[in-house]
Amino acid sequence: MIAITRKAGVLSLLLPVLISCTDTPVREEKEKDSFTAQVDSVLGLMTLEEKIGQTVLFTSGWDVTGPSMDDNYREYIENGSVGAVFNAFTTTYNLELQQVAVEHTRLGIPLLFGYDVIHGHRTIFPIPLGESASWDLGLMEKTARIAAVEASAEGINWTFAPMVDVARDARWGRIAEGAGEDTYLGSLIAKARVKGFQGDDLAANNTILACAKHYAAYGAALAGRDYNTVDMSENEFRTTYLPPFKAAHDAGVATFMNSFNDLNGVPATGNSFLLRDILKGDWDFDGFVVTDYTSINEMVPHGYARDEKHAGEIAMNAGVDMDMQGGIYMKYLKQSIQEGKVSEKDLNDAVRRILDMKFRLGLFEDPYRYMDKTREKEEVLSEEHLEVARDAARKSMVLLKNDKEVLPLKQGVRIALVGPLVKDEKNIIGNWAAAGDREGTAVSVFEAFEERLGKDNVLYAEGCKVLGEDTSGFKDAIAVARKADVVVMVVGELEGMTGEAASRTDINIPGKQKELIKAVKETGKPVILVLMNGRPLTLEWENKTADAILEAWWPGTMGGYAVADVLYGDYNPAGKLTVSFPRAVGQLPLYYNHKNTGRPIQPEDPDQKYVSRYLYTPNTPLYPFGYGLSYTSFAYEVSTDKQTLVPGETLTITAKVTNTGERDGEEIVQLYVHDKVASVTPPVKALKGFEKIFLKKGETKSVKFELTAEDLKFFNPELEWIYEPGMFKLFVGGHSDMPFTHTFELKTE
Ligand code: BGC
Repeated sequence: MIAITRKAGVLSLLLPVLISCTDTPVREEKEKDSFTAQVDSVLGLMTLEEKIGQTVLFTSGWDVTGPSMDDNYREYIENGSVGAVFNAFTTTYNLELQQVAVEHTRLGIPLLFGYDVIHGHRTIFPIPLGESASWDLGLMEKTARIAAVEASAEGINWTFAPMVDVARDARWGRIAEGAGEDTYLGSLIAKARVKGFQGDDLAANNTILACAKHYAAYGAALAGRDYNTVDMSENEFRTTYLPPFKAAHDAGVATFMNSFNDLNGVPATGNSFLLRDILKGDWDFDGFVVTDYTSINEMVPHGYARDEKHAGEIAMNAGVDMDMQGGIYMKYLKQSIQEGKVSEKDLNDAVRRILDMKFRLGLFEDPYRYMDKTREKEEVLSEEHLEVARDAARKSMVLLKNDKEVLPLKQGVRIALVGPLVKDEKNIIGNWAAAGDREGTAVSVFEAFEERLGKDNVLYAEGCKVLGEDTSGFKDAIAVARKADVVVMVVGELEGMTGEAASRTDINIPGKQKELIKAVKETGKPVILVLMNGRPLTLEWENKTADAILEAWWPGTMGGYAVADVLYGDYNPAGKLTVSFPRAVGQLPLYYNHKNTGRPIQPEDPDQKYVSRYLYTPNTPLYPFGYGLSYTSFAYEVSTDKQTLVPGETLTITAKVTNTGERDGEEIVQLYVHDKVASVTPPVKALKGFEKIFLKKGETKSVKFELTAEDLKFFNPELEWIYEPGMFKLFVGGHSDMPFTHTFELKTE
């Protein structure tokens, strides 16, 4: 801990009282409860301007993702008109800013420091979509924990993560930031990540506030274009898009962030149905809500507010507690309150929520507790963290194809590494890589191979760039391929091609890379594609052309090692897609749990006219949700203990899984259920359970799933959460595209 004496600030006089309050038995009893008495005493001292100041969040000028509205954040901190800062980190810098707030303002209220710590802080883990393919909740909790440990050592006490938006359209660049297309899995992952960031005790110096974003339905942006309109039934909203937010809430998430989109005609930032009715009403959320970057201001171009002042009034009235970067609350809230357009009571409520979090973080006790030079030095990028990053990257990779077992690579075969991403250390850590270093900390595929095979033993050619027309490097690529036994090609997207404001209408491997693959393949050498990208790509041609395909996503700081571990079989790949890979961009949005329609395609007659299908392209994805290969194989034997389920009882489904191949390996055993008839048309199947198991070669294990009537609930047309009697089908296996094996009946009388 850095020893600092607090000099000024009325609060310093009160601090002994406030702190002693935190030690009362009441506090112990209601461990996670708010600091009502302390918050109220602080609130009682505040002027209207100081209260408004607490609702203002400004960027420090680093890493901005939108217009910088105002560069005077330092001055604002000094005069108490800013309560939180984002995009500032390092002990030195944040300490400097915190000192201004604590020592130079009238009340000395400490600042919150927010940052987009999305998939690691300095040690970068795979992008969230990639990591979700591990289906390993413990791992995801652990990487979020490590991210919090590193970020909190460098002054940050609030992350704008996890993004829990369900995303089903690969055109949308932000699909990279979430957990894929499934609500059930996405909800579990949301919980794990919140727990990881926040730990068990927010006041510990290595835990930080999490933020469930973007509330809500941002993932359904029309046509996959970022920031676009969302219009959907309330049933679909509650069934598909809302549950991961509820899961984050149930896990105790401290904050929520509004989304940029409008939902059924009302911008999320001015949406009291979302904020007052659901979040603060039905769920009784006691944390605070922050806007997304200037999203109050954006209600003007949305056509929902007359001007910025009006937008601020709509936002505060709808329940938005903090204004990120818009400067609207700062500029207009006082006037709006004086005019009676906003009540001071609502402002007080917002301030209470924000102060409460500052208390929960322990900032009033010690405003410098998140700026710890020793921890910064010892914990950031520690060996232990890097080891977890390597493991997370391996576990995230999905083997999409492996013809004639070209993988794992045999020892002694001559390898050529070809492609624009072989030596990459910049893109490999992916989009939203927080404070991750793009200049040499990350391990490239080239470095990892060189370490294994020895310097000068790796044949290499770049071939071409990710983007651009230049094919002059093909010559060298063909030459090295000819000298090798096997060619590993590392191709994909640039990190900036996914993430925010990075929607694409064409999701092919871009530039001349496809031509490069073709040219290399024509040498007759086996071609293994390693893909680095942040979204599903259209890979029909690659699937026909390449001998093996490994989806490595943006694997993070230790990505190169992880790729080599998987290619050489030191780690047997076990990742499974959490998002469907389409055959063509025209199929989007595409997801496994779609509805059947009244004219479903007939598998035995796929060319039939007047059914719900595309001409010339199948309806099915190229690689379905839940899919991923292993270097071994698994056989399933499924049984159930009954054919009739009644409420209050349990149906047990047993999957006896045998590793039938030649290697040890992990399998993600998945259970899907289809409701045959319901008062709202049901999906063709829906994930209801999964378990990741490790099986030694030849070993058999039984996985048991327990289903109750509760698991069969859905929203009926009246939006009641109910189950209905009837027949159900069960599907158990290693991916979502498998025939059903069993049926059962739910009997309610
Ligand atoms: C993004 C948020 C992010 C914020 C702060 C916005 O543009 O939509 O996800 O947390 O910027 O960087």
